[in-house]
Amino acid sequence: GKRPRLLVVANRLPVSAKRTGENSWSLEMSPGGKFNLLGGVTAQFDTKWVGWPGFDVYNEVEKNALSKSLAEMKCIPVFLNEVFDQYYNGYSNGILWPILHHMGLPQEDDHDDTNKTFQTKYDAYKKANRMFLDVVIENYEEGDIVWCQDYHLMFLPQYLKEYNKKIKVGWFLHSPFPSSDVYKTLPSRSELLRSVLTADLLGFHTYDFARNFVSTCTRILGVEGTHEGVVDQGRVTRVAVLPMGIDPDRFIKACKLPEVIQHMNELKDRFSGKKVILGVDRLDMIKGIPQKYLGFEKFLEENPNWRDKVVLVQIAVPTRNGVSEYGKVKNQVHGLVGRINGRFGSVSSVPIHHLDRSVHSNYLCALYAIADVMLVTSLRDGLNLVSHEFVACQEAKRGVLILSEFAGAGQSLGAGALLVNPWNVTEVSSAIKEALNMPAEEREKRHRVNFQYVKTHSAKKWGLDFLSELNDAFAESEMQI
Ligand code: UDP
Ligand code: G6P
Repeated sequence: GKRPRLLVVANRLPVSAKRTGENSWSLEMSPGGKFNLLGGVTAQFDTKWVGWPGFDVYNEVEKNALSKSLAEMKCIPVFLNEVFDQYYNGYSNGILWPILHHMGLPQEDDHDDTNKTFQTKYDAYKKANRMFLDVVIENYEEGDIVWCQDYHLMFLPQYLKEYNKKIKVGWFLHSPFPSSDVYKTLPSRSELLRSVLTADLLGFHTYDFARNFVSTCTRILGVEGTHEGVVDQGRVTRVAVLPMGIDPDRFIKACKLPEVIQHMNELKDRFSGKKVILGVDRLDMIKGIPQKYLGFEKFLEENPNWRDKVVLVQIAVPTRNGVSEYGKVKNQVHGLVGRINGRFGSVSSVPIHHLDRSVHSNYLCALYAIADVMLVTSLRDGLNLVSHEFVACQEAKRGVLILSEFAGAGQSLGAGALLVNPWNVTEVSSAIKEALNMPAEEREKRHRVNFQYVKTHSAKKWGLDFLSELNDAFAESEMQI
């Protein structure tokens, strides 16, 4: 029969357009784009993506041309143009992101009237959500499933249901959801909750995030929380815990490509005689890169015998430059790198190789494959796909994953990883020591458990599980009406 249709709506499309000149652009895989992972469900769902194309386009001719080339990749653009900055940098990443990651609302310390700035950002956020709605409506056919992704689109469920309550609507939050004490500080707290509750199914990576969400709804809105989800005047919104995964086969296969093997050999030569600790993060305050460096510094301080036998390679991917907090954390991190390399470096080598850049996916696989230890010290993290990717690439080496207990992945990869509290510098330092000294049998045992998990909990399974729950939830809600 015909495959059911699925519209995946996310801020970022799987491919991003980059302007290369007037009326010309290039299309490339979105950096860190995780919603392309839903490509795994295309055998069962006729899937299209709706999202922001990557840059501003005002002229109609250019809009049409770009839409046409995106259509070949099953992508439909939402041209956000002048609304983008306040919606993306202002509200989504300047306000919601820190709240959702337990960091609290940023303080405005200039002469701007805080309320006024807040209102401008909030209005842009709502406007952008309406622009996503318009594009979904243009492309909607009866029976379609609309799956809204992440914190950028918290108003979309409500707008969709107001337009047509027969649309099957799901929403998945890729970030944590904080405790109600933190969430409560958000001025627009109730409207956002009420909107997402209009969806048929809400998904979270962990049980803790789902529980925080449900209890926040009960405290702020006075609705009822049950084992199924949230009940408001007899209407149930289902809440599910469904941790995402990666496409493990892509990484397993990549590790066997001649190009990747060549990168691996070059890297092994480059670091011969040394153990490699790897970090791969966007340079975001939630990733705890300063804490990682402090832990590593303590390790070098206390273990002089290791000083010329270990390097920390940190890929720090530039991100969200339009939000001022990101500039601050970057300066802080650079200061630490300078201090630690100054303290423990020699003329011929330095302990930290810090790179402010992204790397190509084949090179990234080679790094994952040759690393002895992967160090993830997120202070809060929805899931952390990087830790899954490392495990998938370690079939030959069986390196050790040191993983923050504050990353969603800590719930699933905790069995094989060394879990740490990144705020505890001593604990990070001892975990590094333990990882570097771990006997082969124990590494093997830990790797097996995690590899098995990563293999079986793929992004494809995640997508299909969510969509099947969404169908059940929708059918149930139809019976209630
Ligand atoms: N990544 C990338 N380019 C790089 C380094 C990493 O595209 O140079 C990818 C990485 O493979 C992973 C994603 O970025 O899939 C990061 O996802 P994660 O869940 O770890 O963290 P997020 O950045 O979404 O907070
Ligand atoms: C997190 C968010 C995603 C986002 C990604 C990269 O994973 O949950 O929605 O796409 O970070 O951030 P960016 O702002 O570059 O899209």
